[in-house]
Amino acid sequence: MEVVESTNDNNKIWNVGLLLVATLVAAKLISALIIPRSKKRLPPTVSSWPVVGGLLRFMKGPIVMLREEYPKLGSVFTLNLLNKNITFLIGPEVSAHFFKAPESDLSQQEVYQFNVPTFGPGVVFDVDYSIRQEQFRFFTEALRVTKLKGYVEQMVTETEDYFAKWGDSGEVDLKYELEHLIILTASRCLLGEEVRNKLFDDVSALFHDLDNGMLPISVIFPYLPIPAHRRRDQARKKLADIFANIIASRKQTGKTQNDLLQCFIDSKYKDGRSTTESEVTGLLIAALFAGQHTSSITSTWSGAYLLRNPKFMSAVVDEQKNIMQKHGNKIDYDTLSEMEVLYRCIKEALRLHPPLIMLLRSSHSDFSVKTKEGIEYDIPRGHIVATSPAFANRLPHIYKDPDTYDPDRFAPGRDEDKAAGAFSYISFGGGRHGCLGEPFAYLQIKAIWSHLLRNFEMELVSPFPEIDWNAMVVGVKGKVMVRYKRRELAVN
Ligand code: HEM
Repeated sequence: MEVVESTNDNNKIWNVGLLLVATLVAAKLISALIIPRSKKRLPPTVSSWPVVGGLLRFMKGPIVMLREEYPKLGSVFTLNLLNKNITFLIGPEVSAHFFKAPESDLSQQEVYQFNVPTFGPGVVFDVDYSIRQEQFRFFTEALRVTKLKGYVEQMVTETEDYFAKWGDSGEVDLKYELEHLIILTASRCLLGEEVRNKLFDDVSALFHDLDNGMLPISVIFPYLPIPAHRRRDQARKKLADIFANIIASRKQTGKTQNDLLQCFIDSKYKDGRSTTESEVTGLLIAALFAGQHTSSITSTWSGAYLLRNPKFMSAVVDEQKNIMQKHGNKIDYDTLSEMEVLYRCIKEALRLHPPLIMLLRSSHSDFSVKTKEGIEYDIPRGHIVATSPAFANRLPHIYKDPDTYDPDRFAPGRDEDKAAGAFSYISFGGGRHGCLGEPFAYLQIKAIWSHLLRNFEMELVSPFPEIDWNAMVVGVKGKVMVRYKRRELAVN
């Protein structure tokens, strides 16, 4: 009896099992027949552990992840980061839409929201695109050639005064020196003479608090009640008070200046409305955040590479001699614009070390891209879309020996960044949101290096610097010790 019962039980289990499998198969078949198959060709996905795997891969360093995945998955792939999908578009062939798409398709507002408590209310990522566009127009107008010519005079004065304080010979941390000089220049050209001459220490300390209030955690939780964020918020308020006073006093006395502050005070929206004091403060903070670390890091890398490469060092020194022969000791907008060799050396340092290593957008509509191998992918709305200057600037099908410092790759005839089409060189982004401060940055870095090359012999005495991947604006790790000796460049 027992044997018969257990056989019956076994049969029942089998029957139930078979029924279940049959139901599942039927359901699958029906769904396949009734529900139309998605035609989407989604990009391949980075394989990682469930739930937190994507986050762990990203935390190891986005560039490490890109170096591992690009050879396996190609130029378009998706990383699941907690509840978000980030799709990477690497290289000019697949990133045109990233740079050119209208804001309604790919927007910055959501992904750069974390800047709002730092820049303050009513500006940039806290306002609708139509207002933001107008505010970027204020930037464009403030950085026109006519304005830049005036800023160059101030840059040159700051540079001469700064290096006049160096001795006849000595050893300095070049990174520290250039950071300081650029804060001084930025203060004068952007924030104005009141700050530069009277309030420099107070304002620098407040900017320092703002800076320290922007941590990797702030990107995800910008309002987390931590001491760094509290100090950031207090600093923002104090800066608003300082600038409100300066603006009021300029308006009262009718005194105008050639600086970004004045341009923002004088700016008007299309409907005739003037900027408020709070907006002016916010735009100045945004300018400083966009331009200060980026420029000082680039001037340090530019110097480090020149000091390590005698061939290019003598090329830039020769160029200075030639320009001095033509124009004497004068450094102005026009002479700086003639410094093509120096320009290429800076551009190459910036290709290898773009301080903004990842650019982001939020996608609001589906779009497709075609890789250079001819594979098409559909990127669904809702994805975060990313590209990486630090990775894309070193693609071997665009740049010959991409890890080698070779400024001549930009020389006429080679033009490696142009040969592969637009968006091959993206240290300044490009397209719709390309950097508005690029000419300002080059003028500033050229003004500094032109002065240094003309007045000092230098030698790198610490090892060639490494990259500080942990910084929000990726820069130079540790000190960059340089031994210098004052000289007068013999023109003949
Ligand atoms: C070496 C120095 C600099 C580098 C490497 C740099 C890099 C960049 C990059 C990559 C973007 C594009 C961001 C994106 O697409 O998401 C950008 C945008 C911008 N930069 Fe710069 N920048 C530098 C200096 C400056 C300076 C000195 C200023 C102002 C004085 C400035 C003002 C801006 C502004 C206003 C934008 C936003 C443009 C827009 O969204 O329409 N930058 N910069």
